[in-house]
Amino acid sequence: MLRKNPFVAVCIGFAAIFGIALQSPAETQQFALKTKSFTINFQIGSDGRLYQLPIGSPSASLNAKQIRNYEFYPQAGDGYIWEPALQLVHADGNTSTSLLYDGITRTNESDDIELTRIRLHDPAYPFNVTLCFRTHRDEDVVEQWTEIQHQEPAPVVLKRMASTSLLLNTNVYLTHFFGDWAKEMLSPITEEITPGTKILDSKIGVRADQFNNPNFILSLNGKSTETNGEVLAGSLEWSGSFQCAFDDNARGIRALCGINPFMSSYRLKPNETFITPVMLWVWSSNGLGDMSRKFHRWARDFGIRDGHKTRTVLLNNWEATGFNFDFNRIASLFAPAKEIGTELFLLDDGWFGNKYPRTNDHAGLGDWQPNHQRLPDGLAPLAAEANKHGLQFGIWMEPEMVNPKSELFEQHPDWVIRQPKRDLELQRNQLVLDLTRPEVQDFEFNAIKSILSVPGVSYSKWDCNRYLTQPGSPYLAPEAQSELWIDYVHALYALMDKTAKAFPNTELMLCSGGGGRCDYGSLKYFHEFWPSDNTDPVSRVPMQWDYSYFYPATAMAAHVTHMGHRPMHFACSVAMSGRFGMDLDLTKLSAEDKAICAGAISAYKKIRDITSFGDLYRLEDPHQGIRGALNFVSPDTSRAVVFVFQLKDGERTVVRPQGLDPEKRYTINELNPAPGRAAMEQEGQTFTGEELMRNGISPSCAKALEACVIELHS
Ligand code: GLA
Repeated sequence: MLRKNPFVAVCIGFAAIFGIALQSPAETQQFALKTKSFTINFQIGSDGRLYQLPIGSPSASLNAKQIRNYEFYPQAGDGYIWEPALQLVHADGNTSTSLLYDGITRTNESDDIELTRIRLHDPAYPFNVTLCFRTHRDEDVVEQWTEIQHQEPAPVVLKRMASTSLLLNTNVYLTHFFGDWAKEMLSPITEEITPGTKILDSKIGVRADQFNNPNFILSLNGKSTETNGEVLAGSLEWSGSFQCAFDDNARGIRALCGINPFMSSYRLKPNETFITPVMLWVWSSNGLGDMSRKFHRWARDFGIRDGHKTRTVLLNNWEATGFNFDFNRIASLFAPAKEIGTELFLLDDGWFGNKYPRTNDHAGLGDWQPNHQRLPDGLAPLAAEANKHGLQFGIWMEPEMVNPKSELFEQHPDWVIRQPKRDLELQRNQLVLDLTRPEVQDFEFNAIKSILSVPGVSYSKWDCNRYLTQPGSPYLAPEAQSELWIDYVHALYALMDKTAKAFPNTELMLCSGGGGRCDYGSLKYFHEFWPSDNTDPVSRVPMQWDYSYFYPATAMAAHVTHMGHRPMHFACSVAMSGRFGMDLDLTKLSAEDKAICAGAISAYKKIRDITSFGDLYRLEDPHQGIRGALNFVSPDTSRAVVFVFQLKDGERTVVRPQGLDPEKRYTINELNPAPGRAAMEQEGQTFTGEELMRNGISPSCAKALEACVIELHS
């Protein structure tokens, strides 16, 4: 009877292959967590444990007796033999944990958002775990984290405490992004997950990224494309060492992500709650493009500060002057900055330090007083001068760091993170201050306050130019040393939170020796991040493409520089597809380049609402080599902007935009056309969205390092 139903027959076939036995729903309790098109199905086994049907599994239920593999948040030491989500030592030395299902609560936080809390407990100990999920229905986003608490007579030692341990069916492809300084996100790798454990991680403490990135994409049932495939993007909200382990035991694949257990045992006192970082999951059944558009919507609403506010056009002096400037040199940049159309001036590194002036990266870090010789009357007159020219003013800072050659280090050598009996290991000639020490917290917040309170300052770039290699704290007790990695990040968030609250109208850029910090753990306190010190537009095209899987353009700082010595029109066009800025000495630009920059700024102002708040469609992958193309569509679909970046010489082939309203009629205009190049064939012509998406637009570029920015308006 049962076998006559083809769907059930398929399920039984699948179950036989994967060792899952079907059961009638009456024998088990099942419930689900749902967004618009994503579901996590849970089942409580007859043994009282919580199980999960692998995502992508066609089966309807599991037989709990046979399926320890499918436990939802598996614990080490009592029967589970694969990579656990939770591993700890109880107060009495027992190294096993065994969690049973207690109950579930669901709370509507808005029409679109639901908070679900699933409670588990260990029957042998007063030890509880709550699995938390915040689902955003329309965007198919799930925020997942875990809360751990106990009332044992002494601390429990947490050894491994994942934020998530989602189970997937087999046949999954993983896309991840290895990098290095100035090569962040430049090398996407897509590989099939095969039996064994694949680990992406970092062990660098004060930032998540430098080599491995805490963002990845899982494609279910084979590789996905921009428009096809079931994809699940993952992003860990944590600015310290992380681990994402993909454990394939041929029965399913478990994606375990969270704080890196490496050197990070954590003593949890009775009645205290350990809250893991949030893991973000973003789902689409329609490929990578749809996934990113949902991710960007979530990010603008919840992931970054003021995600719906227009960003200014910024001019930075770092590439123009480096450390070599004084009041007059900087002030001389304001008139050309205004003339060309920029709106905000950012003063970079080198403005502080007196006993040890910050004239290079060897000295002065930590001494946050303006240098008397360079800025005799401090920062305020410079900010006032910028404001007088109609420019907002911003300042660079690196509050967590110190040069040994500084007054701060002379006074407080015990304030740095270091290992006893080891020589200090410097990176960029600097050390990390121990933020777990309350005096350091106070010192850093006071430094930040003194900088951001300067009248006329409305923007700041918060840098962090090294990572942790000697994780020892002279402040923490010997038994708490392994807690430094975690306590540092929490102390950092406390500092960022205080800063954001004390200066609600000051825009903040997150930077870390380039793109070391780009995680949503920090980004909630910031408006944008610096993707890389590599501003060569030829590198930026693929780099920004890769970042765009996870981050909206408005969060991605993209500055025009001379790096790579590319044509100015190409450099400007690439930067216009991000959060546009410039890092050039305008006084030294040729008249032609100056006109190109002015044209780009004016064009950007016309379309920044589309790139910042519209939907992104990635059209042609620059990793394929010849050119990259993408377009943004305004939320009401009345306008769009298409970018074509020619990386190598090619044919003048059409570019086909996506996401337009097929019925609407759009007029084509190239913005800021390159001087001397023939106008586009369809310049000024009007077509329906359907025609444009079907027939495409012939761009004005075909040669290497040419670019074309096309506005479509109805
Ligand atoms: C880091 C940043 C640069 C610049 C320098 C200043 O390297 O990534 O943009 O601010 O610090 O020292």
